[in-house]
Amino acid sequence: MDKFRIIGKRPLEGRVRVSGAKNAALPCMAAALLTSETVILHNLPYVRDIITMRRLIEDMGGLVLMPEQRTLKIKADPIQFFEAPYELVKTMRASVLALGPLVARFGQASVSLPGGCAIGQRPIDFHLMGLTKLGAKIELVGGNVVAKADRLQGADVYFDQVTVTGTENLMMAAALAKGRTVLHNAASEPEVVDLAVLLNRMGARIMGAGTATMTIEGVERLNGAEHTIIPDRIETGTLLAAAAATKGNLEITDCCPDHLTAVIDKFRETGLMIEQISDVALRVEYAPLNAADITTQPFPAFPTDMQAQYLAVMTQAEGSAVVTETIFENRFMHVSEMLRMGAHITLRGNQAIVRGHSQLTGANIQASDLRASASLVLAGLAAEGETVIDRVYHIDRGYERIEEKLRSLGAQMERFRG
Ligand code: EPU
Repeated sequence: MDKFRIIGKRPLEGRVRVSGAKNAALPCMAAALLTSETVILHNLPYVRDIITMRRLIEDMGGLVLMPEQRTLKIKADPIQFFEAPYELVKTMRASVLALGPLVARFGQASVSLPGGCAIGQRPIDFHLMGLTKLGAKIELVGGNVVAKADRLQGADVYFDQVTVTGTENLMMAAALAKGRTVLHNAASEPEVVDLAVLLNRMGARIMGAGTATMTIEGVERLNGAEHTIIPDRIETGTLLAAAAATKGNLEITDCCPDHLTAVIDKFRETGLMIEQISDVALRVEYAPLNAADITTQPFPAFPTDMQAQYLAVMTQAEGSAVVTETIFENRFMHVSEMLRMGAHITLRGNQAIVRGHSQLTGANIQASDLRASASLVLAGLAAEGETVIDRVYHIDRGYERIEEKLRSLGAQMERFRG
């Protein structure tokens, strides 16, 4: 299994390009299942989850070509198997994004029910409730969600809680339903908006994406389209955190600062100097950091996907920060590993109280999920001596060649088999 070895305490300096957003790319790839025509996607990040989604589409019978790096041409025709098997769903929960498109276009789908994962139980009951409202008949058969429908019918769908992939699944299903669907308490994340842009290019009629109420007028059929995936706001935030944790200075390019206003504002509050140098570029310069509290919330508030990385930075700030996680019930797996590196963190329910500044020291530690892995890399970069991180396959799911990017900025970091 691959591991990372990091020798810490080297300030990161230089310019770095942000990749495309994994969490926008995955639903956009699933959207290609809605049409028999070709969907071309550019700026896909080269990460494991994209390879898994590609395999899922190919296993169904779809044709996926890569004419150039970071571009995929997807032709979901003919689709012969309407299934996302356990083998794939267990490695990537986002496989559930196949459910809405398959049931809408073919009237049938079987998707293995994802189990709990490292960060929480993560049920998909809102997805199923919404599809049922649109007229799908859903049964659980041998651990699989089996959905059947004649043509879906538009309906009013109320989400009890904001769900990103739940909203995306319903947008895709409603795009081909008969009549009007209104999604209430819909997710407004930039990735949801990116999907709406692609779907509208494919001929869908989606209004209100980016707000809590989305209206979708169903159409008979969708066509092919070409689309460029938005920059990854979480990678951008992780790079800001890397500059903060290593006392570095970075220019971060090909990003979209408007998508991470809450993160930028919070880092500024800690003292980090962040200048927006263009619509797509940021300059970040280290300045001594003071602790500041955060609470994770749906967009546009501070994202749960940046909580672990922010917590790593808070170990290096003066004073105490309260980090409150409201989205996932078990998203503090990184804390026990940071304690082994000398951090002062107390866990109380859904809050972590971080007392800084701590002199972290390198240790052998284990990654537990994607964003936790990123936070451990940051802790390793800030620590004195050598850190070895095991199970880095978690980080490969969502960060494109992170060790190469960080090395190009002066980090002493290598991947090895061990
Ligand atoms: N929830 C339910 N029932 C549902 C759906 C969600 O109870 O049917 C709960 C979840 O358990 C959670 C909350 O609602 O407590 C929000 O979950 P959401 O559905 O929004 O999460 P998701 O769609 O499964 C996406 C991202 C996650 C990101 C969350 C929150 C993708 C592929 N994944 O997950 O990204 O943390 O939204 O923003 O878009 C990551 O990239 O590391 C990652 C975990």
